[in-house]
Amino acid sequence: MPAYFHDLRPSLYTTALLRAIQEHCPGRRLRSVLDVGVGSGVLLAALGQLGAQELWGVDINPEALSAAEHLLSEHSSHTPRHLLRGDMWAPIAPEQHFDVIVANLPHFPAHVDAIDRPKTWTGGDGRKMIDRFIEALPLKLTQDGTAFITHNDLVGLKHTTEYADSYGLDCETVTQWTVFEPPERLGAVSAQTIATSSDSLQYFGGYAFVEARILAIQRKSDRNMTKAT
Ligand SMILES: C[S@@+](CC[C@H](N)C(=O)[O-])C[C@H]1O[C@@H](n2cnc3c(N)ncnc32)[C@H](O)[C@@H]1O
Repeated sequence: MPAYFHDLRPSLYTTALLRAIQEHCPGRRLRSVLDVGVGSGVLLAALGQLGAQELWGVDINPEALSAAEHLLSEHSSHTPRHLLRGDMWAPIAPEQHFDVIVANLPHFPAHVDAIDRPKTWTGGDGRKMIDRFIEALPLKLTQDGTAFITHNDLVGLKHTTEYADSYGLDCETVTQWTVFEPPERLGAVSAQTIATSSDSLQYFGGYAFVEARILAIQRKSDRNMTKAT
């Protein structure tokens, strides 16, 4: 078993994203697809299986890129692949556009120093990566392209939908589930984030549950643009 297999193990969020693309991508044009934060490469393998013609993946972690290369060379060997090291959009040329972009980026909003932080957490209010991801979508999606992202509602669903709206994008929930957040995770979230998340948090005694979802993000249709202006 390769050493990276444990670290890059797909999570429940990966699984939900896998299911969402398997439900929503058949029948779509899939010329070029991208996974931002490709990790193991499982989602690109699934997109290859759905008929994607070119697979693109970006990750800051070289081990993830090796793992993805290993998986795709076995699973989708006939599909051209481009696995690039770098920070989010940085390795993608400006002229490159994608029919489908997937992202399961670290966004758990924990107030823990980077050095002690699990890889799937991020600092502050957790928005940094999601906001950077959304901002670039109008330039990276094809005209009728769609991005599918994982979203733990502790980062603020309203913020995400309003932020996307400000970039001319619509957000739609395609899958939603409730996740148990153990005390060691929730204890790392600031009181302010907890206070602003009351809509998405529920408690049964000391047990806390949060809403999580897969969002599909695409350009507003002309009809919605009219509604928004
Ligand atoms: C939660 S894992 C998701 C992996 C895979 N897409 C999945 O769903 O199983 C997040 C991935 O994002 C990568 N990552 C974190 N920060 C990044 C950044 N700034 N730019 C590119 N990739 C990043 C991590 O190395 C990790 O492989």
